Amino acid sequence: CGIIGIAGREPVADRLVSALARLEYRGYDSAGIATLDHGTIQRRRAPGKLVNLANRLSLEPLEGLTGIGHTRWATHGAATETNAHPHATPRVAVVHNGIIENYRSLLVELAVDGYMPTTQTDSEVVALMVTRWMDLGLAPVAAVQASVSRLQGAFALVFLFHGEDHLLVAARQGSPLAIGYGAGEMFLGSDALALSLFTDKVTYLEEGDWAVVTPESADIRSRAGASVNRVVHLSNASSNIVEKGPYRHFMLKEIHEQPDAVSRVVGQFIDRGAGTLAVHTPLSFDFAALPRLTVSACGTAYLAGAVGKYWFERYARLPVDIDVASEFRYRQPPLEPNGLAMFISQSGETADTLAALPYCADNGQHIASVVNVEESTIARESGSVFPLRCGPEIGVASTKAFTTQLTTLACLSLVAGRARGVLSGADVEALIEALNRLPGALAEALRAEPDIAEIARRLTKARNALFLGRGSLFPIALEGALKLKEISYIHSEGYAAGELKHGPIALVDETIPVIVIAPSDELTEKTISNMQEVCARGGRIILITDAQGAETHGAMAAEIIVMPQVHPFIAPIVAAVAIQLLAYHTAVQLGADVDQPRNLAKSVTVE
Ligand code: G6P
Repeated sequence: CGIIGIAGREPVADRLVSALARLEYRGYDSAGIATLDHGTIQRRRAPGKLVNLANRLSLEPLEGLTGIGHTRWATHGAATETNAHPHATPRVAVVHNGIIENYRSLLVELAVDGYMPTTQTDSEVVALMVTRWMDLGLAPVAAVQASVSRLQGAFALVFLFHGEDHLLVAARQGSPLAIGYGAGEMFLGSDALALSLFTDKVTYLEEGDWAVVTPESADIRSRAGASVNRVVHLSNASSNIVEKGPYRHFMLKEIHEQPDAVSRVVGQFIDRGAGTLAVHTPLSFDFAALPRLTVSACGTAYLAGAVGKYWFERYARLPVDIDVASEFRYRQPPLEPNGLAMFISQSGETADTLAALPYCADNGQHIASVVNVEESTIARESGSVFPLRCGPEIGVASTKAFTTQLTTLACLSLVAGRARGVLSGADVEALIEALNRLPGALAEALRAEPDIAEIARRLTKARNALFLGRGSLFPIALEGALKLKEISYIHSEGYAAGELKHGPIALVDETIPVIVIAPSDELTEKTISNMQEVCARGGRIILITDAQGAETHGAMAAEIIVMPQVHPFIAPIVAAVAIQLLAYHTAVQLGADVDQPRNLAKSVTVE
């Protein structure tokens, strides 16, 4: 969910909606705003995307100089207008990002005093608690403080109050919240991007902080109530505003940005003139001394890490443990002191990934992150940050962030291999050459788009699909299945090619397309056997390979997507483009909303 607050001098309703547009990546199940309209709390809310709220407001505008807004990714309660934020009583309105874990027991307490919920959300309990304290005679700030101290879970909250024309109160625990300093106006928001419409002067609240905000000032207090000073940063988020340009969807635009984006990453690690490796990020650890690398991430970022494991183990002989962050955290894995914990996240705000970080820090790990948003919470909590710098990624399904994550990990694996004395000068030279070829190879891969769109036309008829890959292409098979299912809603699964015979082969018949990702490499022979197993059962193969592979094992495929011939080191990055285009064109031809698929959020800020 995304939240915004304005304590202003000019009408806020339109500005709240504009800021919410920048927060829609955090969810688009519903949106709402509340303002103090002539001293009383007024709300407008609407289920579905922000445009519904904007339409509602054009019919029923809201006045007021102080307001709050919210865009929701539903956790507790369906995505209805009733469950949309802000939640309010006649005394207080609140927007919430996170989850109040003890809301049920708090509701039981409130019911004893006659305070009954009207929604199915966990968030409404906060409005009821504050109301109860105010009914008992506490002033707004004290009522918030008394209520927040009882909340368990993760939250960022912003409140406004009946009769308090120029007051917002905010609190943060576990979910990020920033204050923006304007000229005679103050702002609150989930991230600097939302605030960048109004100001570039931004302070991030720290864990447990809360704040009393008026148009003139922000008084930040620690959990204990003492006033604290927090550094004001100059944010460059405003330079990150993007348009679709000539492309039909952001996803397609972002797919096409990959050659440039990847080229910039390669430039961060390779001195092209000298043909040598160079790391521009100051390292807070020494690759040579690491006993192990522990990677945590979610979704597509996790799959980038899964490819990275093949590279770090092979080229740097560095043992890698990788897990999805939501599992890692509760697994309580033993961690050898002075290992490196790496967090991969486009947004740098994903709650599960963020929550895994303190466990590693507390267990003696160096902390590094691979993030796109350099001002994000994960970046700010890392000793070393490897920025993707691929520009804002708007499409919910990650594309250019994925390939820039992969490229960053590929480069780092060489840096590690060199530092650990695994790679010789000649090895590094050959691998650098492969990386230098990557941007051109991606541009060439994009030229297969018309062929892929044609193959996608037939894929639209399928109800299920299988993706197979081996070695570093196995995670690309997983990503292919993830991409296809998340934007086209065709059920798809990815498997290590060798695992086909251990179960999934039972599904194979002429109705299931089997997408085999098999460029020519040392594993080709093995994969050919797996393809034969599919053919023998009447399965229809879509083969993603290179020219050489098309020659050696193309005959078994019903359809072939030919990618450029590259060094096996970078083949997963090239193949990523093929699976992205396949998913994209399938989804578009099925009429799906590819930039904002149903039920998803770009950045999931609850655990
Ligand atoms: C969401 C998105 C995915 C993304 C994942 C992790 O589920 O839909 O595309 O891979 O979050 O996001 P992050 O910002 O941490 O990379």
